[in-house]
Amino acid sequence: MSPPLVSIRSVLSGQHTGQKVHLRGWIHRYRTSGKIVFATLRDATGTLQTTTKKGVADDASFEEALKGSIEASVELTGTVKADERAPGGFEVGVEQFHLVGSSHDFPIYESTVDADAQETLLDKRHLFLRSRHLANAMILRAKTLKAFREWFDEHGFFETTPSVITTNNCEGGSEVFEFDYFGQKAFLSQSSQLYLEALVFGLERVYCLLPSFRAEKSRTRKHLTEFQHLEAEEAWVDNKGNMEIQEQLVSYVARRVADTAEEQLVALGREPADLRKVTTPFKRHTYDEAISLLRKKDYDRGRDAKGRRRGAIEWGEDLGAPDEAALVEGEEKPVFVMNWPADMKAFYMHSNGDGTVANADMIAPFGFGEIIGGSQRSTDVEWMKGRLVEQAKRDGTALDLNAYEWYFDLRRYGSVPHAGFGLGTERVVRWLGNLDHIRDATPFPRTPSRAYP
Ligand code: 4AD
Ligand code: MG
Repeated sequence: MSPPLVSIRSVLSGQHTGQKVHLRGWIHRYRTSGKIVFATLRDATGTLQTTTKKGVADDASFEEALKGSIEASVELTGTVKADERAPGGFEVGVEQFHLVGSSHDFPIYESTVDADAQETLLDKRHLFLRSRHLANAMILRAKTLKAFREWFDEHGFFETTPSVITTNNCEGGSEVFEFDYFGQKAFLSQSSQLYLEALVFGLERVYCLLPSFRAEKSRTRKHLTEFQHLEAEEAWVDNKGNMEIQEQLVSYVARRVADTAEEQLVALGREPADLRKVTTPFKRHTYDEAISLLRKKDYDRGRDAKGRRRGAIEWGEDLGAPDEAALVEGEEKPVFVMNWPADMKAFYMHSNGDGTVANADMIAPFGFGEIIGGSQRSTDVEWMKGRLVEQAKRDGTALDLNAYEWYFDLRRYGSVPHAGFGLGTERVVRWLGNLDHIRDATPFPRTPSRAYP
């Protein structure tokens, strides 16, 4: 009988000690004296020390082991021994060694992981995805996506997938990728919101997880030009109810990830206990309150384009990264900033009648910045048209009101109060996993300077 195929995790759990097992994976570290080969084997579940000795392994196997190298793929059989000196406490004495795929001069070494090497690592992203760091981040991302879907499923939301080829530009401005669609001007979607709004009239509660695109030249730790946008829309819900849905979702996901990705979180430098503290309710500030709170604080706002130190934040200014960080100083949970000046926000938000709109941004703790933007939607077509005209003037972009006719129809036929929000998946994964840069929250990051590999 051939030995059972097992994962490295199960070997490290101690359940195969003394047994003969079959393993497969990639060589993480490799060293040989000519008489003995030390190879650390890696699979999706962990790393394990192996030794191949002439005599224990048959001759053909030993010859194969000598041809090993970093990132070569191998299959082997051997006997598991407990060994305190081995990392993880176990070692496999190899009897049969089979090289599946050779690997000559693998271009990435662990020592490459410093700032200078970032560009090289991004050029070699297709190979760097094998690193423990990125594998942990990708597992965390998978668990996060799963938790989103669990929550929506348990709360009566239907998943839907509107098109990302569109002729309207939801968030406005020039930050949109435009392309020629068989002779017609079209855009890559910035947000599925307007389409989700159409869907609530049949389904009442919907969500989607689709890519959104922003032609933003921002080179920051929290901007991508393509990101996975988790968006939800709810009929019969106002701004207050919308915020309650968001905080329940986010606290569920934080707790769930703390349970299902504990090992990855610890390896990435996030204490799962931090995430278990993310309970409802979250703090709420109005925009006005947030500005006066920030004006009382003393913190570094960085420098302007001319290199001058920025003064205190003024009413009417957007929150930059230093402002967001100062606002959540000492907080363990995200906070909401609601009721922003209408002029600062998109055309579709419900007016509070005092120059502000019924919206909220959710700001993550520890300086990870805005993770959600949401609002109650306006049901007043004339107000929205006015906002669109002003916005186009402000941004210096052309406006085709006809492109929004279908959207205004939603207000003409059985309109209801409704609200929704959009969450940046990579921003949330960055916060949960304590990742230095948003690019590590996605496998192939797209930024203004990079669309390769
Ligand atoms: O605040 P935003 O622009 O809001 C909307 O698009 C709404 N239409 C959403 C809705 O109500 N359905 O984007 C929502 C979220 C942000 O809070 C942020 O987390 C993320 O999307 N986001 C980005 N993530 C990465 N890179 C970028 N360039 C992002 N722009 C927005
Ligand atoms: Mg926003």
